[in-house]
Amino acid sequence: MSKHVAIVTGGGQGIGLGIARALAEAGFQVAPADIDPDRARSAAEDLKSRGAEAIPLTLDVTDVASWSRAVAEVVDRFGRLDVLVNNAGISPRGTAESTDEALWDRTMAINLKGPWLGIKTAMPWLRQTRGAIINIGSTRATRPRRGMVAYGASKAGLLGLTRQVAVDGLDDGVTCTMVAPGWVDTPGERIIQAAHGRPEFPEGTRNLITIEEVGAAVVYLVSPPGRRVNGDIVYVDSGLHASDNAETVHLPPQDARGYT
Ligand SMILES: NC(=O)c1ccc[n+]([C@@H]2O[C@H](COP(=O)([O-])OP(=O)(O)OC[C@H]3O[C@@H](n4cnc5c(N)ncnc54)[C@H](O)[C@@H]3O)[C@@H](O)[C@H]2O)c1
Repeated sequence: MSKHVAIVTGGGQGIGLGIARALAEAGFQVAPADIDPDRARSAAEDLKSRGAEAIPLTLDVTDVASWSRAVAEVVDRFGRLDVLVNNAGISPRGTAESTDEALWDRTMAINLKGPWLGIKTAMPWLRQTRGAIINIGSTRATRPRRGMVAYGASKAGLLGLTRQVAVDGLDDGVTCTMVAPGWVDTPGERIIQAAHGRPEFPEGTRNLITIEEVGAAVVYLVSPPGRRVNGDIVYVDSGLHASDNAETVHLPPQDARGYT
């Protein structure tokens, strides 16, 4: 039997790269797909150096033609598709008032329309393999944080998409699940921190999630026992969604006490 095949969007760096590596180490053939071709290429080289077969895909998740090309390339090369990981995403800040329309539209296009287009394009192939879709969401889908209106709405929408696709896939054996990471140290997150005048994470920050830990959750969810988890959220967040504020999870106890 040929080895299983996965596409990971935003696979060029950060969480997507962590997921791609974990799938490669679990024996998958992996196509890291990124809007930045150099990132996709270097991710594919990284996966090959770990003994996996990998092809880089240049993909803009907001563009249906780009999806068609990417999925066709994967199926031409590997002959099958078993797993789609919709990970590419942006996390802009802003309230309902301060978010401008262009940023709202861009956030929805990447974080919500992109996964839908990917599912729509990949579904004929996933149906053949009774495959799995993993959407990378956020604790912000279910527990808002101040000033993240477009992001929170897009991830809540992604949860709705996850549940709907899971139900529609029942007869075909195609599962769809959301992984909601907590706070993860990634290149994208570092840029956001720097934009807020914090070139590093606050001193003493604890319980940061690693890209390897998110990758391990995805590997479980696409394994036979993990396929019984369907249409729901797996939080990999050190308890962030269960807490009423992020400070109690991430700040050292002496700093967090003031927030109780
Ligand atoms: N970092 C965190 O703390 C955190 C927490 C919860 C959820 N997430 C989610 O995890 C996902 C990845 O986050 P990250 O921190 O690794 O981000 P990142 O910015 O470090 O990496 C994202 C990758 O996606 C690619 N990308 C951006 N737009 C794209 C597009 N239109 N088409 C294809 N690729 C595109 C980028 O080139 C980049 O390589 C996002 O969906 C994010 O919302 C992140």
